[in-house]
Amino acid sequence: MAILNKGVLMKYFRVGILGCGKMGNVYARWFSRNPHCQITSFYNRTFSRAKELAGKYPGTQAKESWQEITDDPHVDIVGICTPSHEHLEQLESSVKSNKHVLCEKPMAGSLPESQRMYDIATETSVKVAIDFQMRFHPVIVKVDELLPRIGEIFHIDFVFGMYRPEITWRHKSIQGGGVLKELGSHLIDLSRHWVGEITAVSAQNQIISPLREVEDYSVSLFEFSNKATGYLSCNYYDRSSRNIIGNLIGSKGQINWQFSSYDPDDSRLRIYTDSGEEDVPIVIPEEVDLVYPGHLNSFGRAIDHFVDCILGDNEPLTGTAEGLRSMQITDASYRSARERKRIKLITQKR
Ligand SMILES: NC(=O)c1ccc[n+]([C@@H]2O[C@H](COP(=O)([O-])OP(=O)(O)OC[C@H]3O[C@@H](n4cnc5c(N)ncnc54)[C@H](OP(=O)(O)O)[C@@H]3O)[C@@H](O)[C@H]2O)c1
Repeated sequence: MAILNKGVLMKYFRVGILGCGKMGNVYARWFSRNPHCQITSFYNRTFSRAKELAGKYPGTQAKESWQEITDDPHVDIVGICTPSHEHLEQLESSVKSNKHVLCEKPMAGSLPESQRMYDIATETSVKVAIDFQMRFHPVIVKVDELLPRIGEIFHIDFVFGMYRPEITWRHKSIQGGGVLKELGSHLIDLSRHWVGEITAVSAQNQIISPLREVEDYSVSLFEFSNKATGYLSCNYYDRSSRNIIGNLIGSKGQINWQFSSYDPDDSRLRIYTDSGEEDVPIVIPEEVDLVYPGHLNSFGRAIDHFVDCILGDNEPLTGTAEGLRSMQITDASYRSARERKRIKLITQKR
């Protein structure tokens, strides 16, 4: 579709959002700020939440079923913000009716479902992306810039913890996994982005809360194709605000970074090289997310990137191949913990 904006004819896309929990609100905020997008509709399992969100965005409607959005010829982009076991069916239906899809991580409820989503995405001309939005966080983008200064990475240490004592859909076995899948998938994606392919995993996962069906404390050791090693710990018991911490150790130096999901001022980065150590300032954008202020504007930048990929007919940075690989590694971690052995992964071409 095209509209006249300040005298210029511009392409625009009509957006339908499935799921009106935290991420549905995040998508609504940032899609509504993209000049090429206009939100048309919201779906939520509990209809009143869809109505409430539609009420905040004039001109939008709440729908009783998600199929009313995925089948709607007046929708161009579907944003999938439902729990992961719902993603496959919603993505398949959206792609069948020729819609571009931005789908939340973790990609799906299981590895076979993820494989199916990858197959669907590779057989279509519409754009499909998995929302590993951390790649767009100002701290992470700065790490990307500084990486050449620390030489070849031979070890990474990553921790992602949150304090989540409540029991929700996240802690049910139908999700196919717990905290590693939910939080760790982001850091698995970043590990691959910075270091290379993960070739083997050894892991231990625990269920601390007896009310949970899936792990809420997870520790994984990774081996990379360049012989680097990685440590990833994820949990729902971290009461500090400093909940995402990374340490990259290279042949010529080291980068320590961190940010919190909730506190914008906790975005920090320090680089150590032979010429000394330096705190690298992070510019906090004027507009930060309202649900996850510590993620700054990364959700918005991920959405803008996705829309740019549609406009320019380019492949999104994190497509279904990245989503699938993250799921393969998560699955290997679960197998390793279950079978108490190191699991080798088949190396993927990069
Ligand atoms: N990219 C990121 O950084 C990021 C951050 C957070 C979450 N996520 C992902 O975003 C997705 C949504 O998470 P969220 O944080 O928005 O969750 P949330 O706030 O808990 O909202 C959950 C949504 O899922 C619905 N739901 C819950 N249980 C369901 C079930 N059994 N069947 C169908 N629908 C169900 C809820 O509907 P009701 O209102 O009816 O309960 C609500 O719409 C997940 O895939 C999550 O992993 C990504």
